[in-house]
Amino acid sequence: MTISTTEDPVARILIIGNAGQVGRELEQLFQGMGPLVAVDRESVDLADPEQTRALVRAAAPDVILNAAAYTAVDRAEKETDLARAINSQAPRVLAEEARTRNALLVHYSTDYVFDGSKTSPWTEDDAPNPLNAYGLTKLEGEQAIRKTGGRYLIFRTSWVYGHHGQNFLHTMLRLGRERDQLRIVDDQVGAPTTSIQLARATHAIVSGVLAGRFGKAEDWAGLYHMTCTGSTSWFGFAQAIFARASARLGVKTPELVPIETAAYPAPACRPHNSVLSNARLHARFGVQLPSWQIALDEVFEALSQTR
Ligand SMILES: NC(=O)c1ccc[n+]([C@@H]2O[C@H](COP(=O)([O-])OP(=O)(O)OC[C@H]3O[C@@H](n4cnc5c(N)ncnc54)[C@H](OP(=O)(O)O)[C@@H]3O)[C@@H](O)[C@H]2O)c1
Repeated sequence: MTISTTEDPVARILIIGNAGQVGRELEQLFQGMGPLVAVDRESVDLADPEQTRALVRAAAPDVILNAAAYTAVDRAEKETDLARAINSQAPRVLAEEARTRNALLVHYSTDYVFDGSKTSPWTEDDAPNPLNAYGLTKLEGEQAIRKTGGRYLIFRTSWVYGHHGQNFLHTMLRLGRERDQLRIVDDQVGAPTTSIQLARATHAIVSGVLAGRFGKAEDWAGLYHMTCTGSTSWFGFAQAIFARASARLGVKTPELVPIETAAYPAPACRPHNSVLSNARLHARFGVQLPSWQIALDEVFEALSQTR
């Protein structure tokens, strides 16, 4: 558990999941907003509702940022009960505790709540229909928070990666070192989104909410899509990664072969189109994330400085 304080506290912040991709960036950015408690799995097991409840009561936060989740999409098909405890029951407990304290709860959800059948970007009003257990448990988490009500923000995002963490970018760079040829799925389209951009957008919105810039809770509380702009397939993403890795890090580019999902069987089904419209986020908060290509450039800038 990390505890830090500032001399001029604005709000008491609790960050859950600070060892994850998004949680790590949130912890950096929210330093300075007020007394901050950031916890990882060693400090709280979200699968245990009593631990989760006790954590919030001990931290007594004004803002809860929940970046923890069961994110192993394929494993969730077998460990659905555990995924449900972390992705659905824990958010319900957090929402109940937040409402009791009149605290702001910020929670993240996923593009995998959709079945991918639409040909244009999905909006918050489109009906979810998850194809896999991970998406289902994340949807149940959203529903539990919305049912509990109070001061909450749910940000649905997609294809999260960054400088740190286990993600597609680092998998590509590792496989590129090990193999001459990589076969990559080309018929799943989404928006790669960086953990740092998510944390920055979250920080801007939470700061505005705390400063009263967005009015009363009934004016801003709710569900929003939050991704980098533009879209690509996993194959297109891999091409963009290796173009930058070659130019900036001197990494050799393997032969990249586009394949269909059917040629790469996985335990969990994934949507073909999970691009999310960010129009509501922009209209309500004036926040727009950059294009996925610019966000990728930023990650390579960070990678090139640490290599
Ligand atoms: N990654 C994506 O592509 C993606 C896409 C769409 C939406 N999202 C959503 O975005 C949010 C942030 O994702 P992320 O990519 O930052 O996830 P991440 O890197 O997998 O981090 C999740 C964190 O949750 C922690 N955690 C797991 N089980 C826990 C438990 N029982 N108790 C306490 N902590 C636990 C993990 O701890 P350990 O490190 O010990 O496992 C990990 O640090 C999540 O809500 C996720 O569903 C992610």
